[in-house]
Amino acid sequence: MIQRQKGCNDIYGREAKIWKYVESVVDAAMEKYNYTFIRTPIFEATELFHRGIGDTTDIVTKESYDFEDKGGRSITLRPEGTAGVVRSYIENKMYGDPNQPVKVYYNGTMYRYERPQSGRDRELTQFGMEVLGSDDPLSDAEVISLAVNIYKMLGLKEIKVNINSLGDTESRNNYREALVEYFKPHIDDFCEDCKVRLEKNPLRILDCKVDAENEILKNAPKTLDYLNEESRDRFEKVQEYLDVMQIQYEINPNIVRGLDYYNHTVFEIEAKVEGFGSNNVLGGGGRYNGLVSQLGGPETPCIGFASGIGRLVLALEKEKVNVPIIEDIDLFLMYVNEDEKKYAAYLAQELRMAGFIVDTEYTGRGLKGQFKQADRLKAKFTCVLNSEDLDNNEVKIKNNKTKEEEVISLDAIIYYLDEQLNLMEAEDDECGCGHHHGEEHECCGHCHHEEE
Ligand code: HAM
Repeated sequence: MIQRQKGCNDIYGREAKIWKYVESVVDAAMEKYNYTFIRTPIFEATELFHRGIGDTTDIVTKESYDFEDKGGRSITLRPEGTAGVVRSYIENKMYGDPNQPVKVYYNGTMYRYERPQSGRDRELTQFGMEVLGSDDPLSDAEVISLAVNIYKMLGLKEIKVNINSLGDTESRNNYREALVEYFKPHIDDFCEDCKVRLEKNPLRILDCKVDAENEILKNAPKTLDYLNEESRDRFEKVQEYLDVMQIQYEINPNIVRGLDYYNHTVFEIEAKVEGFGSNNVLGGGGRYNGLVSQLGGPETPCIGFASGIGRLVLALEKEKVNVPIIEDIDLFLMYVNEDEKKYAAYLAQELRMAGFIVDTEYTGRGLKGQFKQADRLKAKFTCVLNSEDLDNNEVKIKNNKTKEEEVISLDAIIYYLDEQLNLMEAEDDECGCGHHHGEEHECCGHCHHEEE
């Protein structure tokens, strides 16, 4: 049997419904913040990622899926979304659009050759957003608030926002020098990669997975101590806007992020759920003011964020969030002979067009088997179509919970189902607040509801 590749997942059934729900919440949130959807290719020229993400990062040196295509081009499966968005921004001259900044979001698969474990995959799905063309600290705060709001809209309560600043070029250079000075006497205690990093890019020592527990690494100088006045003022502004937006955060000087393009604000959002393990960072992002020009575009300040959907779904499960997915159907239509079957086909079509979730029999089961199937599908109502009833222009509809059956004129079936389903929903609405399904609603506070 051919098996799926390590670190790849088949998402189906209930889990796929949760994914779709997460994506729908992301879409709704992005719409409110006025971000438009962007779809860029899954593969790009290898050079884009080497130049964009940095050729001393783990993502590029160890985790990159590179191949040569039949035309001899060096191609890479995208490990993240930002570089592709920036390439597209430059190539499509979006910087020339008077409507600035450009605010885009995406949702798609990314590829990293990592050691697979829970929450760490080789094919991963991220949603993310990028703001291109604004240096305003308000856009930093807005991106952070949007990320937080998505998690909140999904019903996650246990999240922690960690923010830090790497500062501008001058601050980063000062910091770089301090790191070299600090690590140099101890570098023999570090892994081979870190020795190279010391020369090429000492910041990358800080996110070394091999030396993560090394005390020398833990006590390394912190970025915040090397910010120049301008960078410090800027970071304070970001915090002021976050305060105004009532977004709670902690300053965590250890956040440096694993990609090279960042400057100024960097942040990560953690799930603080028990049993989540070490891959508890739901998402991260930051400002990357140099990337557009580095890739051949005009100087363009940018900020963005991305979040792994797999990890997010895991967090929802661990936090036991009541996710409003539909796991039952409204009506299951049953039949015995061909005439009835044709009627089932007709009626299913009509009722689906009217908005009901309807299913019927496709595998030749007898009536007993069909009743079992209706239960399996958690049908709220069942209907055995029989020729005699159909001749009289009526059907018998049974409430599968109360087992009560009613004879309904075919002309009234849509009205009847609508009314009955509304009644059922009202009964399920335990607190009587008039809302149903979804995130916790302020009106009652003790059950999960969403405004109708
Ligand atoms: P990143 O921190 O590399 O940032 O990835 C963002 C999120 O993607 C992580 O926090 C995690 O949830 C998820 N993720 C990353 N790798 C894996 C994996 N192997 N398995 C499962 N989930 C994973 C970026 O990708 C940047 N492009 C974010 C950004 C956008 N910065 C500015 N704009």
